[in-house]
Amino acid sequence: MNRLSKWLDERIDLVGIRRTLLDRRMPRDLTWWHTLGSATLAVFLVQAATGTILAMYYAPSPDHAYDSIRYLEHSVASGALLRGIHHWGASAMVILVVAHAIRVFSMGAYKYPRELNWLLGVALLGIVLGFGFTGYLLPWDQKAYWATQVGTNIAGTTPVVGAVIVKLLRGGAQLGVATLTRFYALHVLLLPALLAGIALLHLTLVVRNGIAPRTGVLELNAPARTDSPEYHRYYAESYAASKKAGVRFWPDIVVLDAVIATSLVLLLFLVGHFVGAGLELPADPSDSSYVPRPEWYFLPFFQLLKLVPGSMESVAAVGVPGVLVLVLLLLPFFDRRSARAFNRRPVARISLFGLLGGIVLLLGASIREPKPTAIAPEVGRVLNSPERAGRALFERQQCGGCHIVAGKGGADRKGDAKDSPELTEVGLRHSAAYIHSFIEDPSRFHTGSKMPAFGPPVLSHQEIEELSRYLSSLRGKNWQTAKEEFVDTFPEPRKPKEKP
Ligand code: HEC
Repeated sequence: MNRLSKWLDERIDLVGIRRTLLDRRMPRDLTWWHTLGSATLAVFLVQAATGTILAMYYAPSPDHAYDSIRYLEHSVASGALLRGIHHWGASAMVILVVAHAIRVFSMGAYKYPRELNWLLGVALLGIVLGFGFTGYLLPWDQKAYWATQVGTNIAGTTPVVGAVIVKLLRGGAQLGVATLTRFYALHVLLLPALLAGIALLHLTLVVRNGIAPRTGVLELNAPARTDSPEYHRYYAESYAASKKAGVRFWPDIVVLDAVIATSLVLLLFLVGHFVGAGLELPADPSDSSYVPRPEWYFLPFFQLLKLVPGSMESVAAVGVPGVLVLVLLLLPFFDRRSARAFNRRPVARISLFGLLGGIVLLLGASIREPKPTAIAPEVGRVLNSPERAGRALFERQQCGGCHIVAGKGGADRKGDAKDSPELTEVGLRHSAAYIHSFIEDPSRFHTGSKMPAFGPPVLSHQEIEELSRYLSSLRGKNWQTAKEEFVDTFPEPRKPKEKP
């Protein structure tokens, strides 16, 4: 062991690395708030690990993406857990990056000499949101498809270059094969490379510039502005003093970081296991009645666009995020007052609370809105459009007069019709094709059937198809795990001459 570390030390200066990384001195009294940056890094590592495994199962094409996710969820050991962790990890990343930015902002830690690191941080925030946006499409379910449709439309309202941006994002005029492969490539190649590179720079600067001490330390007798030469001298002296009186990164600070990182990873496991990631029906580009819902961290923005009048929408769609990014990027350059304590920076305080308050209000309003894609109770999930049409027909034709579905119906079951079978789990017994033929003409299947025939002219083939799609979605309470066991025996085609 000793010989190995000596061998390595001669080649890569292990001792030097240890001195710069672990033995570096940090100001005293760092708070739990200071662990947010390393917590983000920890969750990113979890995302990289789970994402790599997910990528091994994922097929980035509209024909196979959904099935590959379904396969992962149902047939791969811990597949659902992995996906759950990755799904919630994405939300955790957004929360942590934003919380970290708020911490840095409210402690004035973006001021001299950390301006550059603030800029890298803003870039990292953008990249994390980019991960969320591109990753959302990958399962290729209804939610994914329609949210991306709206997202790319919003990008398209950018003046002048809007059309080009949409085409670049979608890889064509419509959402399709090219969009999915593009988003996949961005999600697993470009964004991870960018994030890793910029995060490395960000960390290098953290090691180089150190952590800003508690605000009070840098404010005693400080010159008023950070761009005056006296300030730089003043800063160097008081920072050196605070470091000298400080603690070592290893082990004093690492312990805090490790506690938070471990608890977060545990929490992700729990949420990933118990809540999971969810999967709606496969994307159906023809189902324009589906009401899109983006991921929660885009909801405030989405809600804002709903509030502004139509003519102003494109201004808000590009203007609001544009101005926000610009302000964030310029912040360390126009705010050069040396005050760092949050309670001595009234403008900063009002802006932060105003922004956060607005975001929370918008998020609240958006969550309170009634969920438009209501789950059909008898099916346990959202119906797609043919299924919805079939359900409406089922009511209109009073099929429920004879048949019971999930405890409802069956009121007219008198006399001959009293043994009409319950249809709550009919989708497990029969294929849609069988149900279709049956509804058309029950007497073909069962001479003297008590069920009236609904074939044309009563209902069109299209309508019967919708009915049978709806019925084959009826799979009882355990629809998620129940397996179909079809007992479909089709009758011989009717011969012109009936046998006696
Ligand atoms: C007058 C009562 C009555 C009405 C109305 C009725 N059915 Fe039936 N249905 C029956 C009976 C009775 C059976 C049992 C099979 C038989 O006797 O042929 C049946 C069987 C079925 C089956 C086969 C179930 C199985 O498990 O094999 C399906 C599917 C079905 N009905 C769908 C419908 C649909 C859809 C409607 C409305 C368009 C409808 N039924 C309207 C009485 C009715």
